[in-house]
Amino acid sequence: MRALVTGGAGFIGSHLAATLIERGDDVVVLDSLATGHRDNVPEGAAFVEGSVADPDVVATAVAGCEVVFHLGALGAVARSVAEPLTSDTANVRGTLAVLTAARDAGVRRLMFASSSSVYGGAEVVPTPESAPLRPRSPYAVTKLTGEHYCRVFAELFELETVALRYFNVFGPRQRPDSVYAAVIPLFARALLDGTRPFVHGDGQQSRDFTYVSDVVAANLAAADAPTAAANGKVFNIAGGYQHSLLDLLAELGRIVGTTPDPEFGQARAGDVRHSCADPRAAQDALGFECAVTLGTGLERTIDWMRSQLPTP
Ligand SMILES: NC(=O)c1ccc[n+]([C@@H]2O[C@H](COP(=O)([O-])OP(=O)(O)OC[C@H]3O[C@@H](n4cnc5c(N)ncnc54)[C@H](O)[C@@H]3O)[C@@H](O)[C@H]2O)c1
Repeated sequence: MRALVTGGAGFIGSHLAATLIERGDDVVVLDSLATGHRDNVPEGAAFVEGSVADPDVVATAVAGCEVVFHLGALGAVARSVAEPLTSDTANVRGTLAVLTAARDAGVRRLMFASSSSVYGGAEVVPTPESAPLRPRSPYAVTKLTGEHYCRVFAELFELETVALRYFNVFGPRQRPDSVYAAVIPLFARALLDGTRPFVHGDGQQSRDFTYVSDVVAANLAAADAPTAAANGKVFNIAGGYQHSLLDLLAELGRIVGTTPDPEFGQARAGDVRHSCADPRAAQDALGFECAVTLGTGLERTIDWMRSQLPTP
């Protein structure tokens, strides 16, 4: 199978591209390197540097592909609060350009990387896909808009689409060195460096942390699921476990071998208080279930972070 992975130089996309290559697929990676890194693109993948919002570039990259995994986007709620128009161009115009090029190239199915943020502080936790959607940040609006475009393309055209709502993904290659870094790399880096982890708010906010190999497995399951089960649908991708940031810190402290002494600051605009998936729809329709526990995933992540430290 020939597959296009947009965002394949980024954290999740590079793991997905590597897994596809390992199982013998032909892979094209399209990435602007806005936040991704050329080194992440696995050996054996063709690499096209350019924006998903550029229709000509996307048309070149998608030619001959049977499936598209569309992960190329600007993540981070805080970035979208600071620069909503930039996020919109990459995430909304980008998704529409990728959908259109995939349709025109005769692609069988496109998997879209959506986000738990579309729920925006759901009242029902664990949250099923049918819960009301109330995005609380420009980023979440871009992801919900992408979902709508995916469903509309599935209804109007031959192109099949599946939207996957990822919940707080973590693992090796997720970097701590960005102003918009995610909480696990930031906490892990602080503990490894012996500095105080910074907690926005009281630390009782909770997340459904999902290890990256499970997100890869969900994408593969979505690509192979029967049309009736998957086409035009949206699925939560997570284990359905709720962990507070203070629980997370304690677990990281255990692995690193230190007692965290967090510094607390203001809660961040646009962040939701609790986020936890009801994962049953993906189990039923895609036969997908998360396999990696938080503890095991954190151990692998810390091992990787340690391997990145300069040798003394
Ligand atoms: N990490 C999470 O917890 C999480 C949660 C929900 C959804 N997602 C979604 O999963 C996808 C991958 O996220 P990630 O965590 O690997 O982030 P990432 O920043 O590591 O990867 C995104 C990749 O997209 C590329 N990109 C950005 N703008 C682009 C553009 N205009 N054209 C082409 N490429 C562009 C970046 O250079 C980067 O390589 C994103 O769509 C993100 O919104 C991530």
